[in-house]
Amino acid sequence: MKRKMISVIGAAVIGLNAFGGGAALAKDMHKEIENVSHRGASAYAPEHTIVSYDMGEKMHGDFIEVDLQMTKDGHLIAMHDVTLDRTTNGSGSVKDYTLEEIKQLDAGSWFNEKYPYAAKAEYEGLKVPTLEEVFRKFGKNNNYYIETKSPDVYPGMEKELLRLVEKYNINKDRLLVQSFSSQSLQVMNELDPSIKLVQLISYKSNAEITDAEIQKIKEYAMGIGPNHTYLNEGYVQKVVNSGLELHPYTVNDKERMKLLIDWGVTGMFTNHPDLLHEVKKGR
Ligand code: G3P
Ligand code: CA
Repeated sequence: MKRKMISVIGAAVIGLNAFGGGAALAKDMHKEIENVSHRGASAYAPEHTIVSYDMGEKMHGDFIEVDLQMTKDGHLIAMHDVTLDRTTNGSGSVKDYTLEEIKQLDAGSWFNEKYPYAAKAEYEGLKVPTLEEVFRKFGKNNNYYIETKSPDVYPGMEKELLRLVEKYNINKDRLLVQSFSSQSLQVMNELDPSIKLVQLISYKSNAEITDAEIQKIKEYAMGIGPNHTYLNEGYVQKVVNSGLELHPYTVNDKERMKLLIDWGVTGMFTNHPDLLHEVKKGR
């Protein structure tokens, strides 16, 4: 851990965009690519568990990615889905259960059943972590990449996130907040303009973005996180040359990682942080 993004941002601000030279220069930047452990090292351990986050660290992930949901009694927990069904032995909406009830659930056995080739006995009975537990375990100076999921279902989740960031004295230089909801990001921006924000986008076909869309996003965010599937080099260069960071999700194939890096992305989300580490090392 844990390179800072400041260098690239600073270069963009003073007009020395690191990727302005195109693909050849981008290749030289392999080592600068942000390696985001998507839901932890979630190819190898049950997503959004402390074990998965810990494995992401050991596999040289630069950031721990945390998706947030909120319990009935207002606790932020690390979980991707709005319901409990897929990643625990519970069922129903997170918002209808207290933290105490969610803490009774098994958040690991589903992984062993779904991915027997990666199963481990120690995954049985893992608990759903709260954001507070994540902050306590990994500390104030770790790099966190936190997503406000379903903010329309959880009014006030941005304020609670910020409260915990303050309570645990999280280093804001090492924190990114991401969302598909521009409204949620703008709420964060109003609550604390110093929090760095990334606008997530899901493209259903060939990715295109206008200058006006880029300028709008730059009003509140320092980066864009699109699905990688429909990206092309022109899109990547346009976004990066505008001074925005570009962190596609979720890239699990080494050849695809190399291509995206050659195009000029500044980081990416992966379930395999070990593979991205190898690519960064030229392997
Ligand atoms: O946050 C980047 C990526 O994780 C967005 O998709 O559905 O995996 O949260 P999702
Ligand atoms: Ca996410």
